[in-house]
Amino acid sequence: MPRERLSVVVTRRLPEAVETRLSELFNVRLRDDDTPMTRTELVEAVKEADILVPTLTDSIDAGLLGQAGERLKLIANYGAGVDHIDVATARQRGILVSNTPGVLTDDTADMTMALILAVTRRIPEGLAVMQKGDWAGWAPTALLGGRIGGRRLGILGMGRIGQAVARRARAFGMQVHYHNRRRLRPEVEDELEATYWDSLDQMIARMDVITVNCPSTPSTFHLMNARRLKLMKPTGVIVNTSRGEVIDENALTRMIRAGEIAGAGLDVYEHGTQVNPRLRQLPNVVLLPHMGSATLEGRIEMGEKVIINIKTFEDGHRPPDQVVPSML
Ligand code: DGY
Repeated sequence: MPRERLSVVVTRRLPEAVETRLSELFNVRLRDDDTPMTRTELVEAVKEADILVPTLTDSIDAGLLGQAGERLKLIANYGAGVDHIDVATARQRGILVSNTPGVLTDDTADMTMALILAVTRRIPEGLAVMQKGDWAGWAPTALLGGRIGGRRLGILGMGRIGQAVARRARAFGMQVHYHNRRRLRPEVEDELEATYWDSLDQMIARMDVITVNCPSTPSTFHLMNARRLKLMKPTGVIVNTSRGEVIDENALTRMIRAGEIAGAGLDVYEHGTQVNPRLRQLPNVVLLPHMGSATLEGRIEMGEKVIINIKTFEDGHRPPDQVVPSML
């Protein structure tokens, strides 16, 4: 007898190819418009689904999980970061959580380099001149930025993305330094030509560019707080393509305005879409709308990972990208 198809609820619009494949394989409920589900819709979803496919815009907290139906057995997150999911509570309730690591690595690392270059080479300022039709021609002193070759890059968080940034930064001639919970194996450090700093404070004080590439967890909340931001060189630049909560955004804004930090490139914000309005007014700050991993290829690969996680679970095995609280 053919087995009953799993009931899968997807909370956001996904690329068409992914939605089509999900529909072929499961009894899937897709989202009609591209807005996040309301709390009421999420409650309904966790009550009825075997599998929930949320994204980082859904808060899957203990309150929501407390309302989940008996059927809910897997939260197959469409995304790598799981800071919006209470993984420990899910586990206590016997609900597995999986994510989509690996397939966003290169795209996010590319965007990190793009932001480093955008800030140091003043790309948005040049673009604004051209868009306004204000260009009066080449001038020896116009829009002078700083050369990134030879500069010291401090990578905060040397996981997959941090390492991919390191490889790119080396190709640009930067000197790579890093701080991480665990030191990398010597052969990896050698390959990346990366210098490890046990003391984050000491690293920050000596870098020209800091890039945040660690996940958001209780221990990384405001890791770049006012005290640490003050350690940065006044000529230093900070870039974040990870999660906004790692940087104290108000402190950063104050310091850039005061000229204590030379610039920032941000793809993520402490309070989601509520970006500090003062940040938007600063010419030496480049702001992007969380698009670090936004390539069509990456989004399709994320969908493929979600499908593999669900299929593997359906076949009675552990999803390959299962997230357990001890990993966080
Ligand atoms: C993720 O998957 O967590 C990324 O932040 C999405 O860009």
